[in-house]
Amino acid sequence: MKRTSILILLTFLSFSVAQANQTKHPTLKSVMRDLARAVTTLNNAIFYEDYSAIEAAAHIIANHPKPKGQLPTVIKTLGPRMKQFKKVDAVVHNSAMSMENFAKKKDINGILKTQAAMTNSCVACHSQFRKEISKVLAKSNW
Ligand code: HEC
Repeated sequence: MKRTSILILLTFLSFSVAQANQTKHPTLKSVMRDLARAVTTLNNAIFYEDYSAIEAAAHIIANHPKPKGQLPTVIKTLGPRMKQFKKVDAVVHNSAMSMENFAKKKDINGILKTQAAMTNSCVACHSQFRKEISKVLAKSNW
């Protein structure tokens, strides 16, 4: 009886630790899903020429959380290719930051230019790395 209680307690504790890790650091997949949602909001805002909504969505994209719990696995998997991964990520970040400023100035041409650069980089990273990283992360029990 006692042993069973301890077992239950241990199961509960390890579950809680796993939960805490998830809450502390989002997975790459959840960061990506939030990014996709923000991009959809952003695209709609562009069609409505709603500059404050464009600014808000660009801000979310530029400041997305890092999947710190999974980053070491990504770094280990990519090795020297991590440089390229970071480079593409930086283009997304910088485009979103410039877009925020263009939105403040209600500069639709600037916004469209940065939107294209950003979307290209989302897709560029996916075509180079998505499948490979996705497979490795799925295996690493998150
Ligand atoms: C530097 C690389 C990189 C950049 C830049 C990037 N992604 Fe991703 N994305 C990934 C990787 C790797 C995965 C696979 C994650 C996984 O399956 O665990 C992914 C997966 C996704 C997915 C699929 C999530 C799912 O449910 O399986 C979506 C949607 C997505 N990204 C959206 C975006 C959007 C939108 C942008 C640009 C604003 C973007 N990504 C930029 C690397 C990137």
